[in-house]
Amino acid sequence: LITDITLRRILDSRGNATVEAEVTTEAGGFGRGAAPSGASTGEHEALELPAEEAIEKAEAEAVPALVGEVDATDQRAVDDTLREVDGTDDFSGIGANSAVAISMAAAKAGADELGLPLFQHLGGTFRGDQFPTPIGNVVGGGEHAEEATNIQEFLSAPVGAPSVTEAVFANAKVHARIKELLNEEDIPTNKGDEGAWAPPIGDAKAFEIVDQATSEISDKLGFEIGFGMDMAAAELYDEDEGGYVYDDGVKSTDEQIEYVAEMVREYDLEFVEDPMDENDFEGFAKLTDEVGDETVICGDDLYVTNVERLQTGIDKGSSNSILIKPNQIGTLSDAVDAIELGAENGIVAAVSHRSGETEDTTIAHLAVGTAADFIKTGTVAGERTAKLNELIRIEEQV
Ligand code: PGA
Ligand code: ZN
Repeated sequence: LITDITLRRILDSRGNATVEAEVTTEAGGFGRGAAPSGASTGEHEALELPAEEAIEKAEAEAVPALVGEVDATDQRAVDDTLREVDGTDDFSGIGANSAVAISMAAAKAGADELGLPLFQHLGGTFRGDQFPTPIGNVVGGGEHAEEATNIQEFLSAPVGAPSVTEAVFANAKVHARIKELLNEEDIPTNKGDEGAWAPPIGDAKAFEIVDQATSEISDKLGFEIGFGMDMAAAELYDEDEGGYVYDDGVKSTDEQIEYVAEMVREYDLEFVEDPMDENDFEGFAKLTDEVGDETVICGDDLYVTNVERLQTGIDKGSSNSILIKPNQIGTLSDAVDAIELGAENGIVAAVSHRSGETEDTTIAHLAVGTAADFIKTGTVAGERTAKLNELIRIEEQV
């Protein structure tokens, strides 16, 4: 039984306040969880409230309904209670930031009480033998940096790595090599919110540099390292402008599809996230129809980890992958539901961090516990290495 819940404001990696929760149980279990926060948030995401307000609301509504009432080992009961007391569809009652922090803290307290590693508590006894490929942001711009690329993230993808540990270090080597390549051309090495280089270059140049760096490191390490991208196209899309707005012009929906398909083929891209606007299920479907056999087409802002939106995407053939961010939907149970609905329909999962993060490592366990194909959690910044290093520990453990 949950005996105590403490909520507090802590710092996130952008210097903003976020919600941290601590859950204690009667049997001596303890867990701590903290909410991340996005910058290029999807229009349909669960709502985050200002940290102070989210804490006040959760202390008034959620804490009394959980303490002395619900078992931390029963994650469904915890998450159902959070939904019930919130009373809205988008967690605007207590804030998705309070909800996800409590949900994650309860999961850890439950695992602690049971004496299980979190990934096993979340995934069950037979989980932990299939590891996600960590894909890492190495060059970026969009909403994460000014005066940088239009495409939000270029992602190193060490798909041939023999282990998670080697994949994690491969991404770090790609990141380091890119700095050298930028230095050689006297291009400034600014950084974006996630620690990726945010140089003042165009997308075409970024494709070249990331291609070169991943090929070189791949040759050096002796396994395949490709790359991918998160276009975060909802941020580029402007209806009044008639399409996707780039520094060098506007692309119509059909031109955008052609452009993405061309890049997939030219660079043999391993992963393409949000290539189309967040409401364009049809555009996504056209692109998936064209290149879905060759690459992973992943919906982030399109689905916002929401099973109803995912079902629409399944019905329309919009993608072959879904990005999973627990704070987009509010609880771990909801995130697992989205992963499972995807798995039943051949849609692979990529569990993801947010651009604003904390040292919380829950997503590393979620990715292993649900046998997700990918985990996207950056490359070298401390709040990112917290998750990557946890993956290394989990790999050693199993
Ligand atoms: P966000 O970006 O956390 O700022 O939303 C990450 C992403 O779009 O995947
Ligand atoms: Zn995204």
